Amino acid sequence: MDIDKVIEKRISIRGFKKKKVPFGKVLDAISSALQGPFAGNFNNLKFLIIESPDTIKQISKNCQQTWISESPLIILVCTDDSHLERIYGERGRVYSRQQAGAAISTLQLKLTDLNIDSCWVGSYSDDLLKQVLEIPQHIQIEAVIPAGYSSKERTKPKKKELETVLYWETWENDKRPAIFKETPEEKALRSE
Ligand SMILES: Cc1cc2nc3c(=O)[nH]c(=O)nc-3n(C[C@H](O)[C@H](O)[C@H](O)COP(=O)(O)O)c2cc1C
Repeated sequence: MDIDKVIEKRISIRGFKKKKVPFGKVLDAISSALQGPFAGNFNNLKFLIIESPDTIKQISKNCQQTWISESPLIILVCTDDSHLERIYGERGRVYSRQQAGAAISTLQLKLTDLNIDSCWVGSYSDDLLKQVLEIPQHIQIEAVIPAGYSSKERTKPKKKELETVLYWETWENDKRPAIFKETPEEKALRSE
């Protein structure tokens, strides 16, 4: 699928059909998430794939989100900060969160490209989830990603307009200086 179409199509889906997600597609999506940027190119991600309905029910309870319980699949994205902290100190922990976020985004986009819906879930108790899934204490759970084929109507939430997020040259200057006005040549390039 064209990248703009994938970006437009990705929305959070919170309800899935019973249909299983082909394992090969899950692996393809995770492979894509490994292609992104990593500080010092050190990939500290681990992906825990969960298909057992009982475990999925326990995760749903832990997240206090009942819709998760009927998901055919959950991908848990985890990181280990230790190496990045050793190399970059305190900053390594920041890098770890950042590169996990980038990978999660790629993962969701690739799933969308494969016509699989998902939702980034960040609300859970780390300790309880680690206990259920036997995850060691030093591992960070970055996200819980239920995935499957949507049983819901798709509605794209409203997003911010471009002009509302731009500053120019200095913080809070929202007027683009004349020097930066889009020239006819630039405009033509944009629509190429
Ligand atoms: C860090 C993070 C945590 C989130 N946690 C949850 C969550 O716990 N439950 C949920 O249903 N959605 C969660 N979401 C999804 C957002 O609600 C969703 O992205 C937002 O409403 C925009 O909708 P869209 O993804 O369809 O564009 C989370 C998203 C992010 C980035």
